[in-house]
Amino acid sequence: MFIKHTTIERNTILLGVLTLVTVAIGGLVEIVPLFTIETTIERVEGMRPYSPLELTGRNIYIREGCYLCHSQQIRPLRDEVERYGHYSLAAESMYDHPFQWGSKRTGPDLARIGGKYSNEWHVSHMIDPRAVVPQSIMPSYAFLAQKPVDPSDIAQHLKALRTVGVPYSDEMINAAKADIAAQADPDADTDGLLARYPKAAVGDFDGNPARLTEMDALVAYLQMLGRLVDFDRTQPGGLRQ
Ligand code: HEC
Repeated sequence: MFIKHTTIERNTILLGVLTLVTVAIGGLVEIVPLFTIETTIERVEGMRPYSPLELTGRNIYIREGCYLCHSQQIRPLRDEVERYGHYSLAAESMYDHPFQWGSKRTGPDLARIGGKYSNEWHVSHMIDPRAVVPQSIMPSYAFLAQKPVDPSDIAQHLKALRTVGVPYSDEMINAAKADIAAQADPDADTDGLLARYPKAAVGDFDGNPARLTEMDALVAYLQMLGRLVDFDRTQPGGLRQ
């Protein structure tokens, strides 16, 4: 046995080939079974594609680089779970293209920011963070309240996401332009919108119901974050303490 080992160890080419074969077996055993399943993400009740207004807000979040200072991923560590809530599930970012996990927390994690503050708080904070958090170093995004949202290409955004697997239906795409306006209009009939996008926050977000602004979209997005999965009813894997 040891003599055979000596032969292998003295022959670099043979050692290389045999190492490759051994590593390949390990790789195949781990990787091949993954091809037989449709997804590695455990599906969780409540997850749905983003409403057109939330998606617009998400696009603004990406454009403004909020992810450079904020993560959207709560790790299963006690201090994080106590501060931010239930740890993030893979399913919660399954419709994110690209995902917004982030890599740095200059500000707090935002994965469960939805419902933590009122719309008015978010608007004041975006306009002047130091008006509500005196020691804040977050930049002001006051211009978002002045910039109107252009809804003309929203259906294209939904279609593009459908090509990468987000299950937007034809009905959602056809109604996208109407839905984006209805979600931020306190007088609109939102029955159809809420049937398509359960739990969407509706009403005026930026304090000016007459205009659909980027502030409306961003606040609608923030208010949805972390609220789609009902953790009182869903306990995947249980909460590790
Ligand atoms: C330069 C880093 C930086 C950038 C960029 C930044 N933030 Fe912040 N953010 C912070 C800091 C620091 C705090 C904590 C102090 C505060 O509440 O203002 C914070 C707080 C927040 C909070 C309150 C969180 C809580 O739980 O109290 C929200 C919401 C928020 N940011 C959203 C955003 C959004 C949306 C963007 C992009 C438009 C953004 N931030 C960009 C640094 C940043």
